[in-house]
Amino acid sequence: MALHLGVNPDTGEAIRLPEEDLLRHVVILGATGSGKTVLAKAILEEAVRAGVPVIAVDSQGDLASLGLAPTQDSVALHPAPQDIVDGYWSRAAISIFTPGSSKGSAASLNPLKSPPAFDSSEDAVLYLDALAESLAGGMGYEPSHDGGSRAKDAIYLVLQDAWKAGRWPADVQALSRLLEREPSSDGERLLSKRERASLIRRAKSMTVGAKGLLFTAGAPLDVASMLAWAPSGRVPVNIVYTGGLRNTTERDLVVATLCEDVYHWMTSQPSGDLRLVLYIDEVAGLCPPHPKNPPAKKFLSLLFRQARKYGVGLIVATQNVTDLDYKALGQANTWALGRLLAKQDLDRVRHLVASLHPSSPETVMEEIPSLRPGQFILLSPDHVGDARRLEVRGLATQHVVVAEEKFREVQSSHALVSPPEAEDARTARRRRLATAAAKAARSSLKAEVEEGVGFRVLKIYEDVPGMYGPEEIVAMTGLDPRFLTILVRKLAEARLLRVEHVDGRDVYWDPTVGFDLRRGVPERAATLPLRFPLVAATKRVREHLERRMLVIPKERLSRKEFYYLPLWRVEAELPLGRKGGRVARQFYVSAVSGEIAHAVNGSLSFEEFPRKDGIRYESLALKAHLESGPSQKIGDPVPLAKVGPSQAVEIVRRSFGAKVSSDHPELCLLPLWKFQVESTEDRKTRPLWVDGTLGTVLRAPPEGL
Ligand SMILES: Nc1ncnc2c1ncn2[C@@H]1O[C@H](COP(=O)(O)OP(=O)(O)OP(=O)(O)O)[C@@H](O)[C@H]1O
Ligand SMILES: [Mg+2]
Repeated sequence: MALHLGVNPDTGEAIRLPEEDLLRHVVILGATGSGKTVLAKAILEEAVRAGVPVIAVDSQGDLASLGLAPTQDSVALHPAPQDIVDGYWSRAAISIFTPGSSKGSAASLNPLKSPPAFDSSEDAVLYLDALAESLAGGMGYEPSHDGGSRAKDAIYLVLQDAWKAGRWPADVQALSRLLEREPSSDGERLLSKRERASLIRRAKSMTVGAKGLLFTAGAPLDVASMLAWAPSGRVPVNIVYTGGLRNTTERDLVVATLCEDVYHWMTSQPSGDLRLVLYIDEVAGLCPPHPKNPPAKKFLSLLFRQARKYGVGLIVATQNVTDLDYKALGQANTWALGRLLAKQDLDRVRHLVASLHPSSPETVMEEIPSLRPGQFILLSPDHVGDARRLEVRGLATQHVVVAEEKFREVQSSHALVSPPEAEDARTARRRRLATAAAKAARSSLKAEVEEGVGFRVLKIYEDVPGMYGPEEIVAMTGLDPRFLTILVRKLAEARLLRVEHVDGRDVYWDPTVGFDLRRGVPERAATLPLRFPLVAATKRVREHLERRMLVIPKERLSRKEFYYLPLWRVEAELPLGRKGGRVARQFYVSAVSGEIAHAVNGSLSFEEFPRKDGIRYESLALKAHLESGPSQKIGDPVPLAKVGPSQAVEIVRRSFGAKVSSDHPELCLLPLWKFQVESTEDRKTRPLWVDGTLGTVLRAPPEGL
């Protein structure tokens, strides 16, 4: 089937791309707003109509609109032929995967899911190397630094030994156990004792807190299952949403792991026919020019070189044409150039155009700045001299950004689409485990309770997230307290809930959802002093902007918000070096991300991996300066916590080798201001954060916000 992409705006003739051309990959370049995602969606819709499954990596939330039927208004603006709309909706089944969160279908990453299976040792070396690098990146190492690159090598050696010995670690936890064992003699020489301890700590902390959710929440992303869940006759459209991830390291890791799995899947079941289209929106940063070599780039270039003979078509798009390794994408056969205005962007693509269209590159170059949104020039090294102009057809779907909160609705609300089993699989698993837990609780008590009670209780932790003991659940449901006491314990044994000991009793929360600190326990929360109320905080931001004035002249503050960042205050004792003795310290651990918050020269700083001895950390605030009050009465917004008190204690213990004085950390709230800074030139806004205690201007939000 030829893919109907649109028309030539000059002649009105239809532009179609032979399906086989997808096998030889497509690269879409153009400034922001030039219509790259629109073009990609048109191609993906056509793939679905042709019965080819899709996996699309979405960093902005607009690809999720592949699950939204067009409205009258959207069709009026960009009309789509009715047969295309009908064809798409009679086949598409949508699933939105949200790694590390349950906003859509919760999904986790397991880069170690499949041991390498290669004939040639050269392929295996390449693969293990890329894998070691992405794991090192995930642990927060910078591979271009000496320490980072040696840590990567140490991981490589451990993986290689394990693979050769037939003891491949099944997941990140298993890897950290392997790392803990005595290193081989090569490994011994690579890292100092201290570096090795740090590597082990980082490996372990990969599964803790908000960061840990990426590796533990939901079933691992798995290409084979992504292609198999749709009901018969339907074509699965899998959106992998990366916009909710905490930073670019995580995003790189998700794309690298996904590409790794595509590679695995396709090589283990070879077939030459087109059977999967993989689209990566905004590929810049993932595939930068030499010498940068992030893990996603390694797997991507592997795919660009080999996917074709295994029946996988790749599409990538980017607005950042300078930050792209054209060599890695060199195998692509279709290049779509949309509008570019900046001189440096035009200069960057000049070479490309000259090689793809040697007969008259200048004519093409002159057209590029005048293209309208949704218009492209298609170039192909196979059709030298044939530059076709394309105006993308109206889409069979709306083209809008879908809010994360809507993902579940989009997945399941379409009457045309059966709810994807991927989401059902999570629910079904939870229901099954919850039912078994309820059965066990009932049999030990002989209580009269309804069938679905286990799942009903579990849902409370999801729908109104909080840290609740049986007492609170009794108040909400009226169920027998003795039964509930056993039920929640069973739910925790089935790992559906986490147990904590707070305010003198056992309480529970759902680790895939988190908890609102204003519901259930802890009953009291302390607030860090607000030394920078609005006026003082605004002054701080103004000073910060003035210092940047020379660079960006016209900015003003347009909006402000206030909220609290929840922290666990952990009291601990640290050994005092060689002289012996111990010294008391207190650490603040973010309940949202598990990072350690402390002061560096009087400024607030968050660290995922401590960079120095615990002794040398300044505390955020002394205990005497905290003010305690009932947590239920907090009026200002507080984000959901994902790190419980016991994990906070564990983080302090592991990060500093500290002896924690009490297993009951105190909940503390750090006041935070969020300002919107608007450029008076293009009206674009960017956020800036100021903490209310130390008055530090934070350019990036604390992790998890
Ligand atoms: N056929 C079409 N269907 C829908 N929108 C279209 C179409 N043709 C042009 N447009 C316009 O193109 C605009 C931008 O499209 P798109 O989101 O694809 O840009 P982009 O290049 O992906 O930008 P960014 O780099 O910011 O992601 C749309 O908002 C819409 O106004
Ligand atoms: Mg886009």
